[in-house]
Amino acid sequence: MEETRINLLQSEMPRAWYNIQPDLSHPLPPPLHPGTGKPLGPQDLAPIFPMRLIEQEVSQQRWIDIPEEVLSIYRLWRPTPLCRAKRLEEALKTPARIYYKNESLSPAGSHKPNTAVPQAYYNKKENVRRLTTETGAGQWGSALSFGCNLFDLECRVYMVKVSYHQKPYRRMLMETWGAKVTPSPSDQTESGRKILAKDPNSPGSLGIAISEAVEDAVKREDSRYSLGSVLNHVILHQTIVGLETKAQLEKVGAAPDVLIGCVGGGSNFAGFCFPFFPEKKAGKPIRFLAVEPTACPTLTKGVYRYDYGDTAQMAPIVKMYTLGHTFIPSGIHAGGLRYHGAAPLVCQLYDEGFIEAVAYPQNPVFEAAMLFARTEGTIPAPETAHAIRAAIDEAVKCREQKEEKVIVFNFSGHGHFDLAAYDAFLSNKLENYEHPEEKIQEALKDLPKVSEG
Ligand SMILES: Cc1ncc(COP(=O)(O)O)c(C=O)c1O
Repeated sequence: MEETRINLLQSEMPRAWYNIQPDLSHPLPPPLHPGTGKPLGPQDLAPIFPMRLIEQEVSQQRWIDIPEEVLSIYRLWRPTPLCRAKRLEEALKTPARIYYKNESLSPAGSHKPNTAVPQAYYNKKENVRRLTTETGAGQWGSALSFGCNLFDLECRVYMVKVSYHQKPYRRMLMETWGAKVTPSPSDQTESGRKILAKDPNSPGSLGIAISEAVEDAVKREDSRYSLGSVLNHVILHQTIVGLETKAQLEKVGAAPDVLIGCVGGGSNFAGFCFPFFPEKKAGKPIRFLAVEPTACPTLTKGVYRYDYGDTAQMAPIVKMYTLGHTFIPSGIHAGGLRYHGAAPLVCQLYDEGFIEAVAYPQNPVFEAAMLFARTEGTIPAPETAHAIRAAIDEAVKCREQKEEKVIVFNFSGHGHFDLAAYDAFLSNKLENYEHPEEKIQEALKDLPKVSEG
């Protein structure tokens, strides 16, 4: 009998994260101060993040040890299994082998606790008492609430208003772990009040919620801000996913042809793929395929320029693919994939051709999610379903071309709190949406004017 679940022992769990920065062909363009446009120094970031995370952000050390306390919490759900999607393969009649790394088994239901836990840990070590953050669909907010609860930190989550109303159960989950959740835009911050003055019915966006959370953190001495994606240190923490996957594939002697992940800010995709980068750079033919919604086509339609990380222009200016920081997404159900930018590390490698990207509208994405749920069982998060769509399309290509490839995707989260989206799909109420070219051109007029050296 062939094993369909490849496990690692807890003693085989990686004990260091992989930092891709020393392996890049050139260093990342420096992040710039949102006020002065000058390169940011560690001191500029100190009111926002603890020093240990700032150091990780710029570290050129290839391996960074995972602290013992973090490892012991990871053991609550890690190592996660790598599963062979045999029943999906059979349904597709593909000669390809499809594997998925199941990150939905964490307490919060996604890959996000992989970074929430170390972020809470490093803040606690530096005597921070309270963390603020934003959340879109609620996955990140729940992960940080869980992390803060373990280290006895207060947690304030600004939740994008449309999701706050669409997903009351995510709010309840956050409150169960002790967090305070505020719908954003709110009247609690200056950035929120400004948006509400212009549009009292604003549905909110990740960019606005980030502005509120950053403003809240910098105003209080006892608080810092925590981001669930995009940044280098977040990606660093997520490499535990790819490192385990690599060890699991080695156990069954499978060499991946394509690694697939959905991209919101880029953290699960990067954490999953980057540990394979040294081999890819050395010439191994492994494809890295990023999947995004056509409603927020950052990589496939954005431009590679310096832009603000948030709407109120408080977060650092970074070089990334962007749809413009004024981007207000349509209300698609993959809330976690609606960010206007993406991780600078992912963007640089995409620009250099190491990463490919594809965009899908939501109906074909939910068709893929349904097929997965009906063959493999677990109901995917709408974000994750983007990766499944692409994996299915790759497997169908293998059937047509009679190729026995190894397709591996990251199952970034389950959709147990996203059933309203499934309900909308099942009653034919989901609309496909393509972000129009004119809107992108319009938003790009507001990019900051900075010299690119
Ligand atoms: C289940 C799931 N997958 C993917 C993402 C996208 O984030 P990232 O690109 O940082 O992995 C999110 C974000 O909320 C998510 O909840």
